Order: sequence, then structure tokens, then C-alpha cells
Amino acid sequence: MKIAHVLTLIMAILVLLLAGIGYKRFMGDAVVGKRLAENNCGVCHDMTSTRKNGKGPYLWEVYGRPAGVVDFHFSAAFHNLAVEKPFLWDEANLERWLINPVAFIPQTNMAKQTKDHPVSFDGIQSAENRRDLTAYLKSLR
Ligand code: HEC
Repeated sequence: MKIAHVLTLIMAILVLLLAGIGYKRFMGDAVVGKRLAENNCGVCHDMTSTRKNGKGPYLWEVYGRPAGVVDFHFSAAFHNLAVEKPFLWDEANLERWLINPVAFIPQTNMAKQTKDHPVSFDGIQSAENRRDLTAYLKSLR
């Protein structure tokens, strides 16, 4: 093989590799998302098909689901918004919710500390982490 052919081959392999990495970054990485979800959401949310509620509602099949429809005792603030202006958990709404739940729904229980549930959630700052989390949430079905 001529040196030019070898170089072309190496270039082609590099381009494919980079495209693959770029695609994953753009789409989110569900494997990383799973770890993030276990660390950041698991204390309050069940993410398995057993559909158990914890401090928060179960997240199985959450992607594409209308907000506030599972059998869970939502806060008045959450419930009122979901009834008055129903919305779906699509990418845009998950993004808004995960950056800062209070900015989306002031008074939500997700960001509140109570005696029974002293843990609260105040948002995921990294856009990359949010994308990976959403990729994982999509896979819960
Ligand atoms: C401190 C406990 C807690 C943590 C941590 C937490 N949540 Fe929540 N989550 C809640 C509570 C409580 C609600 C219900 C909110 C309400 O009633 O105001 C909720 C609601 C939700 C909903 C709405 C579900 C529905 O059926 O409409 C989604 C989606 C959600 N959380 C995703 C997440 C994700 C993803 C994470 C991790 C990045 C997370 N939550 C971390 C407590 C938590």
C-alpha cells in the first residue's frame, strides 16, 4: 500500500471515531445518565418497572408522559399547574425541570426539605449531565 493510502485510511478512521463521539455527546449517553440518576434522583425516585413511589413519583416510562398523572400525592403547586396547563415530559420540559425545579414550579416538593424527607433537589448545573440524564430517562421503558 502506498503511504498516501495508509494516511487516507487513518484519516477516515479518525473521522468516523470523532463522529461517533460527537453523536453520543449530542444525543446524551444513557450509561453515564444511569449513574447520574442513581446518585442524584435515586434517593427519592424509583426508576424500575416496579413503579413504587418514594418521596417523589416513580419515573418508569416518564419520558413522553403527561406531568402529574401517576398515582402519587403531588404538591398543590405541581398538581394545579399540571391541571391548569397540562404538559408532557418531553426534552424541553425535562431540561427546564432539571436545571431548576423551583424556577419551573415554585413551591414544588422536589426542592423542599421536610421532616420526613430532609433531602431536597436544587438542579443539575451541567448541560452535558442533563442531556445524559434525559437519555437515561428515555430508556426507562
Ligand atoms: C429530594 C427528593 C428528590 C430528588 C433528589 C429528585 N426528585 Fe424528582 N420529584 C420529587 C418530588 C417530591 C416530586 C413531586 C413534586 C411535587 O409534587 O411538587 C418529583 C417530581 C419529579 C418529576 C415529575 C414526574 C411526574 O410524574 O410528573 C420528574 C420528571 C422528576 N421528579 C425527575 C427527577 C430527576 C430526573 C431527578 C434527578 C436528577 C430528581 N427528580 C430528583 C423529589 C425528588
